[in-house]
Amino acid sequence: MDLFEYQARDLFEAHGVPVLAGIVAQTPEEAKAAAEKIGGVTVVKAQVKVGGRGKAGGVKVAKTADEAYEHAKAILGMDIKGHTVNKVMIAQGADIAEEYYFSVLLDRANRNYLAMCSVEGGMEIEQLAVERPEALARVAVDPAVGIDAAKAKEIVEAAKFPADLQDKVAEVIVKLYGVYKNEDATLVEVNPLVKTGDGQILALDGKVTLDDNASEVRHPEHEELEDKGAADPLEAKAKANGLNYVKLDGEVGIIGNGAGLVMSTLDVVAYAGEKHGNVKPANFLDIGGGASAEVMANGLDVILGDDQVKSVFVNVFGGITACDAVANGIVKALEILGDKATKPLVVRLDGNKVEEGRAILDNANHPLITLAETMDAGADKAAELAHAAK
Ligand SMILES: Nc1ncnc2c1ncn2[C@@H]1O[C@H](COP(=O)(O)OP(=O)(O)OP(=O)(O)O)[C@@H](O)[C@H]1O
Ligand SMILES: [Mg+2]
Repeated sequence: MDLFEYQARDLFEAHGVPVLAGIVAQTPEEAKAAAEKIGGVTVVKAQVKVGGRGKAGGVKVAKTADEAYEHAKAILGMDIKGHTVNKVMIAQGADIAEEYYFSVLLDRANRNYLAMCSVEGGMEIEQLAVERPEALARVAVDPAVGIDAAKAKEIVEAAKFPADLQDKVAEVIVKLYGVYKNEDATLVEVNPLVKTGDGQILALDGKVTLDDNASEVRHPEHEELEDKGAADPLEAKAKANGLNYVKLDGEVGIIGNGAGLVMSTLDVVAYAGEKHGNVKPANFLDIGGGASAEVMANGLDVILGDDQVKSVFVNVFGGITACDAVANGIVKALEILGDKATKPLVVRLDGNKVEEGRAILDNANHPLITLAETMDAGADKAAELAHAAK
């Protein structure tokens, strides 16, 4: 989960990273009140989960509270790279002498953490990384050790900070690593990390990505950080039911067991769709191992709630959960859904107890169900039905 800047700011503050005052506002009136509370020069900053806000006109300095009101009025509702601005943060204005860059992230390719740092931070960092990569120090960080004082020193030296600044910056970097480690983040980025006129080091902008795998058990408090308004309603519903669901832009609903099988089902359906009016998979949905009737019903309910869906392909390989249990699950799910089930279902079963499973579906003789012998045949049939109903 990516956080908004104001949420990152709050986490930074909680972990002792030096930040300036920041208050989130949803109306120009709130922005004005926030600017009055903070006092002096403030900066009105669009809160969207995308970089380059400054260049898009989403970061504006306000000398007075009335100016903060005017800026907030202009920025709220603005579209920045497809993201609508619903909130702004009123930040205390900093007297910036220099802008630096720091990030620490999960380096999946190298099974490691990676720290990046530069004395040339600010809005041109992407360009710098491409044009003068040597100006962006990259230091591998061993997850078992993390960024301690010694590692932080190595990072600031690699980034060529002047000697008199190194200790101060290193101290902030250790604190930022504390955010990364203790919050189970996969990214903590500060751009700019600034030196103020009076020599303080401050994090002026923060991007944090939290590891969703850590949320449920290790950080239940992270749920509050979720931007519920932005989530797709079907995805939100699936999540509430504990389902692994991702909405896609197609017409053939997909249910399978196991992420690998579902992924390949998406491929096979997309391929079959080329022959049937270019219909495409409508979602990813992995019902996992124990495909009970309830799980199947919840899954079907989510998929059938998608108006774009014209047919559904249920592709299950019986393993620990045998096909007869899955077949019973499908039949019961259709009972539970009743009139809500209106779209044709193509079912392909294979593996453990496949004969029993097919017999159950045959006997049920449900008007919406078509049995398929193979995955390819099932994908083809589901695509054909979706095309016919389009
Ligand atoms: N509190 C502040 N006081 C003074 N200047 C600020 C403040 N916050 C931001 N700025 C200035 O505005 C610039 C852009 O702000 P910021 O980095 O927060 O947004 P951004 O453009 O979205 O950056 P990114 O592309 O890294 O996401 C900063 O580089 C800095 O010069
Ligand atoms: Mg920035």
